[in-house]
Amino acid sequence: MQQPLFPALPHMGHGADYNPDQWLDRPDILEQDIELMKESHVNCVSLGIFAWAALEPQEGEYHFEWLEQMVNRLYQNGIYTLLATPSGAIPIWLARKYPEVRRVSREKVRDEPHGRHNHCYTSPVYREKVRLLNTALSQRLGKHPGVIAWHISNEYGGECYCPLCAAAFREWLKEKYGTIEKLNAAWWTSFWSRRYSSFEEVEPPYAQGENCVHGLKLDWKRFVTRQTEDFARHEKAAVRAGGSDLPVTINMMTAYDGLNYFKFKDVVDFTSWDAYPCWHGEQDDVSLAQYTAFIHDGIRSIKRGQPFVLMESTPSMTNWQRVSKLKRPGMHMLSSMQAVAHGADSVQYFQWRKGRGSFEKLHGAVVSHDCRSDTRVFKDVAAVGRRLSGLDAVCGSPVKAQAAVIFDTENRWAIDMAAGPRNCGKHYLETCMQHHRALWEMGVTTDVIDMECDLTGYKLVAAPMLYLLRGGIAEKLRRFVSEGGTLVGTYWSGVTDENDLCFLGDWPGDGLASVYGIRAEEIDALYDGECNHMESCGHALLRHERYKLTELCERIHPQGAQVLARYAEDFYAGEPALTVNRFGEGNAYYLAAKAGMKFYRDFYHALVEQAGVDGARLGELPSGVVVSKRRGDEADYLFVQNWNATPASFELPERLADLETGKPVHGELTLEPYGFRILCRKH
Ligand code: GLA
Ligand code: ZN
Repeated sequence: MQQPLFPALPHMGHGADYNPDQWLDRPDILEQDIELMKESHVNCVSLGIFAWAALEPQEGEYHFEWLEQMVNRLYQNGIYTLLATPSGAIPIWLARKYPEVRRVSREKVRDEPHGRHNHCYTSPVYREKVRLLNTALSQRLGKHPGVIAWHISNEYGGECYCPLCAAAFREWLKEKYGTIEKLNAAWWTSFWSRRYSSFEEVEPPYAQGENCVHGLKLDWKRFVTRQTEDFARHEKAAVRAGGSDLPVTINMMTAYDGLNYFKFKDVVDFTSWDAYPCWHGEQDDVSLAQYTAFIHDGIRSIKRGQPFVLMESTPSMTNWQRVSKLKRPGMHMLSSMQAVAHGADSVQYFQWRKGRGSFEKLHGAVVSHDCRSDTRVFKDVAAVGRRLSGLDAVCGSPVKAQAAVIFDTENRWAIDMAAGPRNCGKHYLETCMQHHRALWEMGVTTDVIDMECDLTGYKLVAAPMLYLLRGGIAEKLRRFVSEGGTLVGTYWSGVTDENDLCFLGDWPGDGLASVYGIRAEEIDALYDGECNHMESCGHALLRHERYKLTELCERIHPQGAQVLARYAEDFYAGEPALTVNRFGEGNAYYLAAKAGMKFYRDFYHALVEQAGVDGARLGELPSGVVVSKRRGDEADYLFVQNWNATPASFELPERLADLETGKPVHGELTLEPYGFRILCRKH
């Protein structure tokens, strides 16, 4: 069912972070902003993100008039507000008067008042000040017809090692383990005499402190997520206490690994994220487009299938990347529409207008210091707005995936800290992205999920490098395959349990060995530049005879599985490298080594056919051209994207209609450099 994110704004959103608090002495600028917003088809803005000092210049002294005037004026002009809670930057009076609100680093050094994104999530004073302000803000504006959502804080992240956080960590551990003996057992502290006699002895992993006890490190990271999530909950509760029940979001950051974002799924009502890919940079645009596609799919999967918001993206360039290149013609439109293709119902920017001073004065914005609307960037932005305003039909349509790649943040932490066969690079993210890439290139709609997710409804699940098992994943995969699902697992799976303790018995542990019908005995590591190969046993699944293998090569023994390919070189030549096991009604594939895109393309092509996995699928597309699908009530919307800097043509296998022109489309379709089209396939 199609359901717009914001009932008051049943259209695609288009807007930006807006900071009128930097221009309160320039009414002419604020006047011009409204005119330019209308000219660029902006219909929503995120307001007040870092405005604490303007809202509460002295302790307990609130100044909401300017903000209310802004919300009013925007609303009168058809522009809606995503209202921010301003906790992302601490005003100086607060940081000075209550030092406990300032974060302490891993080196145990307390911050001086500075910058932003540096408050302690535990500090009772900070929590109280945020509560009072959020509630007052909500009382004042939370029911305003021009406000459509809450933008809670900004880019939660980082860690605090202050005494309050250390104490909260100990409390959390006490609750988790009950007794210190249980903690000692879970953390394997008999190793190197690291045994604790009481919870009071446990310290966070300071820079000069304990960093070899993996259980401690993992639990610390889990605690940081839980404390941040608890802080977000606290902010939301304060907003609710003020009488507003508008939907709430937090803006997440790319593949940020400091937080397990899936743990926020019940706090947020919709997800949103900030995308800053370095287009035209050191990585080719097609690969980078797949990276953003992977993140879009992951952020969307936190609220499975539901539309999300692209909260920030730059209209032109950033000012913090190594090299900040301008977007080449076409790229702004294409990268904005890619978000929509993957389920975004709003495309927003950082920032509306460049400030005159300080760190971000040279960061790209819709309006530059020339205050003009006849610039290339402004025109590009207006073109996106115009095009979005024609996409009402797509608004609120879900993205339904029958394929999923498991990319689990806690597993990522465990893999990164594991001291093992290849400490120079295990490439978990990149490996998950390779599996996803094969599906993305084919137009197969794919979710990117974690181990706690429900697997119901998927036909194909890829679970690369499932090193640490948690969330009942082994049991879920067992059921998934036995009920007819297709599972792809790889080397370095089922190594440790959720405490990062190695499984005893056959690996992959926790019973996964029997699902895959193999057992893994040992794993060989290759230097960068070294390789092995696998040779097909002639199974129809593999189009080529030989595929390159790198990085990690596991020696496995079939225990019921059929061998599909064997190692070609080294002392384990002839041993299995790819197997399949019939388990119940389904098939579990096991890839024993890291392969390359040639393999993943052939392999997933065959699996998708065999398992009948749904997707946009428009036949064979030229390299760099992809298609993604959203499912509307009346039609499927196919977003055909050309990520090449050159035109691309291909033959459409069916008759479709162009959503924007209404005209039929068939035969040869040509896309401009970085061009895209939206085609309708009626149900
Ligand atoms: C982040 C922040 C914004 C801004 C941009 C600049 O995403 O949320 O406030 O600093 O980066 O790219
Ligand atoms: Zn703290």
